[in-house]
Amino acid sequence: MSLPFTSKSDLVIGVDIGSHAIKVCQLKQTRKGYAIVALGSAVLPDGAVDDGTLYDSELVGESILNLFKNLKIKNKKIGFSISGYSVIVKKVNLAVMDDAALEEHIMEEAEQYIPFDIEDVYLDFQDLNTQGEGGDRTDVMLVAAKKEIVDDYLEMIRELNLNPVIVDVDGFALENTYEYSYQKIGNVALVDIGASKMNINILSNGISVVARDIIVGSRQITEQIQNTFDIEFEEAEALKLGSIAAEDKQQEIEGIFTTTCTQWVLEIKKAIDLYHSNHPDQPLTKLVLSGGGAKVHGLTDFLAKETALSVEIFNPFLKMTSKKRKIDPKYLDSIAPEMAIATGIALRSSNI
Ligand SMILES: Nc1ncnc2c1ncn2[C@@H]1O[C@H](COP(=O)(O)OP(=O)(O)OP(=O)(O)O)[C@@H](O)[C@H]1O
Ligand SMILES: [Mg+2]
Repeated sequence: MSLPFTSKSDLVIGVDIGSHAIKVCQLKQTRKGYAIVALGSAVLPDGAVDDGTLYDSELVGESILNLFKNLKIKNKKIGFSISGYSVIVKKVNLAVMDDAALEEHIMEEAEQYIPFDIEDVYLDFQDLNTQGEGGDRTDVMLVAAKKEIVDDYLEMIRELNLNPVIVDVDGFALENTYEYSYQKIGNVALVDIGASKMNINILSNGISVVARDIIVGSRQITEQIQNTFDIEFEEAEALKLGSIAAEDKQQEIEGIFTTTCTQWVLEIKKAIDLYHSNHPDQPLTKLVLSGGGAKVHGLTDFLAKETALSVEIFNPFLKMTSKKRKIDPKYLDSIAPEMAIATGIALRSSNI
């Protein structure tokens, strides 16, 4: 008897290649929804990946292979996601037309919408079907990604004998996880704070209406600690994470945290203000924080106070099961915020 859902091999392995760490997530479908099969991360050396660009493909490739080996992952079909300056996500309002006409129109007019030479980018689009009953205009989400950046990833992955079947965008992967895990969509701001960038994706009734990457992140705190005390990056990182005692550095470190978080909150507020000025009758209901930066002590309370929104930490595994003897529940809890993007990619079927 065959079960009425796709088999394990139909899901891709989600690989999120961040500037601080690679995150890998493998899911499978069960009768009760999704189950986590494998989960892991590996820290990358400083500079191997930055602002969505691959600078040391050998080292990153080696880390991916090691992770796959340690996690005993056999499936070769993977999905990865891109972000940073090389990806432009833009919403345009166009006359309603069928997919073929839309494709033709976008190919002809793309240069009007994106600041890159059309020959240099991969283009994709999705009709958001916002026309409503009898309407003749619809919003279309356009994605343009620089070929040279994407090709570097594709080449690295193929050299590992892996098969890259999905190229996602960080913000969309986040949205995908959110839709599955939280279901009640409403008007919500998804904010992923990584090591070197913050991705903001505001959803209004499930449709992305504000999407941006800002170059701020948790590495800023490490670098400021490093510069203030003239110490190595690793020591500064350990001080930041509290894995070594701050002692007489405590007060200055707290000051660095406050300055950085204030800057983050300002950026988030700018995006929220933009949203509210365009959607005055659809107020945001909450803000969901992911990425390693979400774990900065006190950030959720600070954000809640400054934005007057309810703020929570993203748990991509809310509706997923896992085996305790395979994945330590404590590890799962601690890594959950960083895993939101890898999980969103892993939810994609390889059949699309
Ligand atoms: N408790 C914590 N407090 C502050 N920062 C933390 C904490 N835990 C992790 N981080 C930081 O979060 C960052 C890693 O998060 P994440 O894995 O989301 O980044 P990334 O995806 O590799 O980066 P990016 O998406 O910006 O390229 C590191 O800078 C790490 O020091
Ligand atoms: Mg990231």
